[in-house]
Amino acid sequence: MKRTMKSVIAALSMIALFAFNAAAGEVEVLHWWTSGGEAAAVQELKKMLQNEGHTWKDFAVAGGAGANAMTALKSRAVSGNPPTAAQVKGPQIQEWADLGVLTNLDDVAQAENWDPLVPKVVADIMKFNGQWVAVPVNVHRINWMWCNPEVFRKAGAKYPQTWDEFFAACEKIQKAGMIPVAFGGQPWQEATAWESIVAGVGGTDFYIKTMVRADEPSLASDTMVKVFEIFRKIKKYTDKNAPGRDWNLATAMVIKGEAGMQFMGDWAKGEFTAAGKVPGKDYDALTVPGTADAFLFNVDSFIMFEVKDAEAKKAQKAMARLILSPDFQIVFNVNKGSIPVRSGIAEEPFDAVALKSMQDFAATARTGGLMPSMAHEMAVSPAVRGAMFDVVTNFYNSSMSPQDAAQKLAMAVKEAKM
Ligand code: GAL
Repeated sequence: MKRTMKSVIAALSMIALFAFNAAAGEVEVLHWWTSGGEAAAVQELKKMLQNEGHTWKDFAVAGGAGANAMTALKSRAVSGNPPTAAQVKGPQIQEWADLGVLTNLDDVAQAENWDPLVPKVVADIMKFNGQWVAVPVNVHRINWMWCNPEVFRKAGAKYPQTWDEFFAACEKIQKAGMIPVAFGGQPWQEATAWESIVAGVGGTDFYIKTMVRADEPSLASDTMVKVFEIFRKIKKYTDKNAPGRDWNLATAMVIKGEAGMQFMGDWAKGEFTAAGKVPGKDYDALTVPGTADAFLFNVDSFIMFEVKDAEAKKAQKAMARLILSPDFQIVFNVNKGSIPVRSGIAEEPFDAVALKSMQDFAATARTGGLMPSMAHEMAVSPAVRGAMFDVVTNFYNSSMSPQDAAQKLAMAVKEAKM
């Protein structure tokens, strides 16, 4: 009897729990934030939603830069069962909106006054036909190099500002028996390093011509040949286990002092933070040679799919509202390594690297030097981006000459545009 009562109570409490959850609304959230820093950051959104009584159903698909997550999203959408919210960026937002499957977030945007708070360059990416269909989360900077000062000290090397100084430092680190560059050989990581070199070698105008306008003569130019030459030379200073390595494992090599530097966006800072490391003491962030005045930006965002259930709708809108709330913008971005995407956020909780990023973002926005990241879906169409990725990865993993690579790049982009 006692046992029966116990199971009845258990069953009733399950029903109560279920009823509460259903009333409060559930959001199933697709994302690819599975590394230490990324997971710590996304956990904060889950907590805030749960504090408002909603349920978070995690749909995490591992894989840097989200290629696996996007495949999973498409297959769920095709079977008529998309998640409530999904991490989707750049031009893909427009593509999903064009299918007519996204929730219009204008009511939240108006109530929360998003328009004056979010920079126009970001808001334009989040809107479709003038309506908000995505919520921006942060601003990441791509053109960073993460350095271990102890490795440099042991090798007698100094922090580089030019490419010549960079290769001089690599030589010293290698001679001292350490790995100069921690590298992950995956197409998106290769493209991430490569686009920073494009900015560093060619400057703002060249970057915009090639990575945003996909101008064929510029893609085939001597400047692009120089970019490929530098990219090839960097490979000499990576280790033999680089192919296929995940980006966060490459960051761990710098954290542990096995390697001197890593080219990576500032989600790498999230890994240093998660490991309890402090910038200026345990590690330093330098801008990639030649890019001190450049800011390659990458904005994360969420789209919400149209749902019928009224409570799920409420949970979706709560998620959208929370993402741009000042409290979330602080706690998320401190963990993620990025900077807030909206204005009016206190600077005090952020570290020196984030503060520099904030200043540089504002300064570059004024001088017109903001560069949308090609590798992270802020610039060209998915087809052109795919063509660029193919040439970059084929070049990096073969003995193709820099001259051929530049020619092939222009041709592949031309075809992708047709
Ligand atoms: C980027 C994304 C970042 C970070 C990175 C590695 O595309 O914008 O937030 O997660 O991929 O996964």
